[in-house]
Amino acid sequence: MKRIALACAASLALAGVALAGSASAQAGEGDAARGKSVYARCAACHDLNTGATRLGPSLKGVVGRTSGTMPNFNYSQALKDKAIVWDAASLDQFLAAPAKMVPGNRMAFPPMANAQDRADLIAFLAQSAR
Ligand code: HEC
Repeated sequence: MKRIALACAASLALAGVALAGSASAQAGEGDAARGKSVYARCAACHDLNTGATRLGPSLKGVVGRTSGTMPNFNYSQALKDKAIVWDAASLDQFLAAPAKMVPGNRMAFPPMANAQDRADLIAFLAQSAR
């Protein structure tokens, strides 16, 4: 009986470690090196550094920028009116559910469900979209 109780306590402790691990991934400790490969999904539409317009606005300096303010890009009224300051939290929310956060925006890109992909991508943008 005593042995079973001990085994139980040990597996509870292990479960606790596993939970703590996934919680920290959700909190957004991104891996920028991995994020670079996630960015391949964005690159057809978004320049990173030169300011050039592709299908979407350049993401040059996107972290800290207000939504809808890149010159020479014809934004939706929705994205301009929203005037979100792009930071790790708002980018995470937008990428997870673009249409929910900014109804009527014109970014033709599906919600990115994987929280780790988003965290890695945002770490890469913070480092490289300058
Ligand atoms: C098919 C083209 C396309 C792809 C792929 C795409 N986007 Fe976009 N994105 C757009 C367009 C178009 C807009 C402008 C939407 C509007 O005006 O409503 C936009 C807007 C944005 C904005 C707001 C920019 C600003 O200046 O306010 C961010 C941030 C963004 N995209 C990030 C991303 C990221 C990160 C990815 C990759 C995971 C991605 N996008 C993939 C087309 C795309």
